[in-house]
Amino acid sequence: MAKRKTPMLDELEKGRWPSFVSDIKQEAEAREKTKVDLQTPREACDDLLGLMELSYEDKVGHWKHGGIVGVFGYGGGVIGRYCDQPEQFPGIRDFHTMRVNQPSSYFYTTEYLRQVCELWERRGSGLTNMHGSTGDIILLGTTTPQLEEVFWELTHNLKQDLGGSGSNLRTPNCCIGKARCEYACYDTQHLCHSLTMEYQDELHRPAFPYKFKFKFDGCPNGCVASIARADMSVIGTWRDDIRIDQEAVGAYVGGEFKPNAGAHSGRDWGPFDIEKEVIDLCPTHCMAWDGNKLKINNKECIRCMHCIDTMPRALRIGKDTGASILFGAKAPILEGAQMSTLTIPFMKVEEPYDEIKELIEKVWDWWAEEGRNRERLGELMQRQGFGKFLEVCGLKADPRMIHEPRSNPYIFWKEEDVAGGWERDIKEFRKKHQK
Ligand code: HEM
Ligand code: HEM
Ligand code: SF4
Ligand code: SF4
Repeated sequence: MAKRKTPMLDELEKGRWPSFVSDIKQEAEAREKTKVDLQTPREACDDLLGLMELSYEDKVGHWKHGGIVGVFGYGGGVIGRYCDQPEQFPGIRDFHTMRVNQPSSYFYTTEYLRQVCELWERRGSGLTNMHGSTGDIILLGTTTPQLEEVFWELTHNLKQDLGGSGSNLRTPNCCIGKARCEYACYDTQHLCHSLTMEYQDELHRPAFPYKFKFKFDGCPNGCVASIARADMSVIGTWRDDIRIDQEAVGAYVGGEFKPNAGAHSGRDWGPFDIEKEVIDLCPTHCMAWDGNKLKINNKECIRCMHCIDTMPRALRIGKDTGASILFGAKAPILEGAQMSTLTIPFMKVEEPYDEIKELIEKVWDWWAEEGRNRERLGELMQRQGFGKFLEVCGLKADPRMIHEPRSNPYIFWKEEDVAGGWERDIKEFRKKHQK
């Protein structure tokens, strides 16, 4: 039985959704009984539940401000925290979180996970977050003296490094990609892994004005939400024609294949209507169905994925695949939320990824030099302008980079582009124009 009384938390054990309260109680009980030589307080889980109950009662958090801890050699990877009621809850006096760099797309073997659990049961609270929003395996709650111990075991026994935190490159993340998705336009996992390895130094030792994130989506469906949650978003696409299997299209129309692979089968939407559900919903109206044959005017297709998502067995991505690269996404603080802005409409994504690395390094060179303290890339792009950003990337402006042209006329010109330059003499002007 759990040690503390938690009447409010107990309410959250009701209902069908897996209860985090029941799970923590189970771990609390396991810690009470275990014969493992625990290196952290046995009552950590009980005390955490107690502290949470207190927060539910008085509706405020009970962690002190901040916390700076870590491991030698690295400037990040651990998020320190201390309870503000240490006498009442000594088991979580310090309760630091360790970020562990996950494998791309979270594929695991039970053998690996057992090793992580064995280590964390002994040297941590036994509690985790699988996974943090950025992607890391999150080991929730340990004491300062255990940090180096956990790090030593992670690196020496598990061949496993920490993830990122602080003003640096954070842990990159990707969609499941070619591992299990027929829409993947490039190997998201391989690129994610390669760039993570390439930029280990930038990940472990903060050298930037602020945080920076990479995310890799295999197609515009955006399963890792790179366009919203990464300073650099790499999104797969193709530039030739969508491949159509006319016979399979017929099978959809005839009701043999379920639209959207059966995603809407929980409700009766009537028989599949290709006109209504595909042709009329195409954002550029570049599709046609004559009752027999499906046609796509690929020149006008914006590769939104809708038709492919709806008829995955009949329509396939093209063969000339690559990715679009976008920059600047961030949450609201300070200057307002941003999604990433299209910067490279199309780039081939091929090992050893030199073209992508060159681009990344140009962007970092500029931002590291010009970025203000705690200014995200997206804010620097706003402050100095997209024109400047293209210049540092060595890119030419392209209509695909804008949603619409500017409507205000406050246009800056470079002096060299204006005949005669800016140096003018008023006397010359007055010769022709009296005061
Ligand atoms: C034949 C007579 C006129 C011509 C050809 C003319 C032409 C123009 C042009 C081309 C502009 C735009 C300048 C720019 O955007 O850079 C302008 C702006 C302006 N004009 Fe005139 N104008 C004339 C008479 C007047 C008069 C009589 C007034 C006031 C009594 C006036 C007040 C203004 C003002 C205030 C602006 C600035 C508007 C703004 O920037 O939004 N103009 N004019
Ligand atoms: C003491 C008198 C005045 C003062 C202190 C004054 C001040 C200003 C200021 C500060 C602006 C904004 C400039 C900017 O956006 O950078 C402005 C704009 C303007 N003023 Fe005046 N103004 C005065 C009289 C007038 C008069 C008498 C007229 C018209 C007959 C006028 C017409 C305009 C117009 C059309 C604009 C807009 C210009 C633009 O958008 O570029 N102003 N004024
Ligand atoms: S983003 Fe595209 S390629 Fe990646 S898993 Fe999702 S649908 Fe598949
Ligand atoms: S991918 Fe989108 S834009 Fe292209 S044909 Fe299909 S529905 Fe139309």
